Amino acid sequence: MTETRTLPPSDDAIREAADALVAGELVAFPTETVYGLGGDATDDRAVAKIFEAKQRPSFNPLISHLPDPESAFELGDFDERSRNIAKAFWPGPMTLVVPRRAGCPISLLASAGLDTIALRVPAHPLAAKLLRAAGRPVAAPSANPSGRVSPTTAEHVLAGLEGQVSIILNGGPCSVGLESTVLDLSGGTPTILRPGAVTAEMLAPLAGPVAMAGHGAKIAAPGMLESHYAPALPVRLEATAPETGEIFLGFGEVTGPEGSETLSKSGDLTEAASLLFALLRALDRPGAKGIAVAPIPEKGLGIAINDRLRRAAAPRA
Ligand code: TXA
Ligand code: MG
Repeated sequence: MTETRTLPPSDDAIREAADALVAGELVAFPTETVYGLGGDATDDRAVAKIFEAKQRPSFNPLISHLPDPESAFELGDFDERSRNIAKAFWPGPMTLVVPRRAGCPISLLASAGLDTIALRVPAHPLAAKLLRAAGRPVAAPSANPSGRVSPTTAEHVLAGLEGQVSIILNGGPCSVGLESTVLDLSGGTPTILRPGAVTAEMLAPLAGPVAMAGHGAKIAAPGMLESHYAPALPVRLEATAPETGEIFLGFGEVTGPEGSETLSKSGDLTEAASLLFALLRALDRPGAKGIAVAPIPEKGLGIAINDRLRRAAAPRA
């Protein structure tokens, strides 16, 4: 166990957090998507600590975070198309999977032994400052125990990982609220491995036609989905009203009875994404029968919201 300290944002806190990373300790930090559980991506022991803290299967690779696109270009193979995509969407809520360059110092444990690496330049100013101060790629999965709902506040991180992380940098609530789009550029057709705020439509002008991998795709049968992002209560989707004992989470016109919560009264997908994980946590009350969620349109950011909801509703292991 480690003593966990939550620090308000300041230059001193960033310096302290960067020093902790360099010393091989774990630091949770805000990005615009979700909070990350960071460790030195070039240090096998720090990376091993991340897997241990999250109880994450070590065959599931991690994203390495950089302060700017140029630092990312030194680690992976970026052809012209990949560079153009990177420059257009970084910093931002997008991760690119590219071939590992010869001599790339990222730990093989972080990339689960694959010959590709996942790289991201986050837009959150605190993250950018921390990454610049650390001066090395920082591996960071979402800062939650594996399989649970991702954290969008420092309090969420503390609730799940107290004693496992040295410092939590408190940057307030995350603005996007869903994990980054993961785009695989290592093969022929660019493929979205995980939908997020950067959508296929946004990518098309630079990436050409973009394929959607299994899990995020609309066609995926619910039974094939891995349980993930899951609250303790069962989750029921496409609900128009709660059944007895259920808590209702509305969207737009579908509001449920008095006392129900809503992802967005006005049907705004950006607002819904930013509130989704916090509401799934808040509604996860012992004693209730389940959480029923109103239908969310399968377009734009709704594709990523529905992907997370389907995983939250998938049969538990
Ligand atoms: O928004 C985010 O992406 C957050 C913040 C902290 O940056 N991070 C995050 O990390 O969600 P994580 O570890 O929870 O998700 C990483 C995703 C996983 O789906 C993983 O399988 C995929 O990226 N991934 C990582 N490296 C990969 C690789 N070499 N090939 C294919 N997928 C990879
Ligand atoms: Mg995660």
